[in-house]
Amino acid sequence: MQAKISDFFQVINHGVSGVLMDETMSVVKEFFNMADERRADVFTDDHTKSCRFRTSSTNYATEETHYWRDFLRHPCHHLEDFIHLWPQHPTTYRDVVGKYSVEVRNLLLRIMELMSEGLGLEPGFFEGELSDDLLILTNHYPPCPDPSLSLGLPKHSDPNLITLLLQEHVYGLQVYKDGQWLGVEPLPNAFVVNIGYQLQVVSNDKFKGAEHQAVTNSREARTSIGAFMGPCNNCIIEPAKALITEDNPPHYKAFNTKSFLKITWQRLLVTQKLHCWLSMF
Ligand code: OGA
Ligand code: NI
Repeated sequence: MQAKISDFFQVINHGVSGVLMDETMSVVKEFFNMADERRADVFTDDHTKSCRFRTSSTNYATEETHYWRDFLRHPCHHLEDFIHLWPQHPTTYRDVVGKYSVEVRNLLLRIMELMSEGLGLEPGFFEGELSDDLLILTNHYPPCPDPSLSLGLPKHSDPNLITLLLQEHVYGLQVYKDGQWLGVEPLPNAFVVNIGYQLQVVSNDKFKGAEHQAVTNSREARTSIGAFMGPCNNCIIEPAKALITEDNPPHYKAFNTKSFLKITWQRLLVTQKLHCWLSMF
């Protein structure tokens, strides 16, 4: 594995089959290009539905920034509990994305093991409750007639533990560093690894989540597939006790995951002047 930039880096030679990565990207693109009747089963305004397909631009007349993006998201870990809720079309969707979710989860666990070693925590620290949740969130950004008037996704840090993003050859992801936006170059067969806010808390700021956004372009549609790993709903998020000393007091108090996520989303709502973050996820 090779890291490029700290806190937001790309991995290559990661062991996930290139064929499976291509198949997953193509079945996801097929979903986004399908007629609406064939994907009506998962289209919903109800954010409490575990499988949700939606478009972000619904307040077009009044919103400050237009978001040029469709998305589909659903949980993946404990596949047998969720797979029946996933899209029925394309007919290969469940099979391909199911295999992909198992592979990326294994890779994420390996990366977390290296992270815990880097922090000096005990082996297996992130296994179990802290990594029990895996959400696949796929984004589709159609070509936009005037990209200067829109964004794909607003500036945000991922709220979860760690994210693995598969992007295709089309540029669009930017990371905020030293006061400016830097483009994340799409590399063949690579995953972008993104440290989430919860890992920032657990590491007591040794690792920091990088703010990022997605921009649109007028020429070509862009699709990305994020795998978001995080703790189960009732898990407690707090700086790891083994890292806390008199000289290194905790920078955060303990939260349960549910309230942690609620507060994080509310902050995004205010800082990005969003009408409704529910249209984002
Ligand atoms: C996200 C995200 C970036 C992209 O889904 O949280 O940051 O390039 N996506 O789609
Ligand atoms: Ni993100």
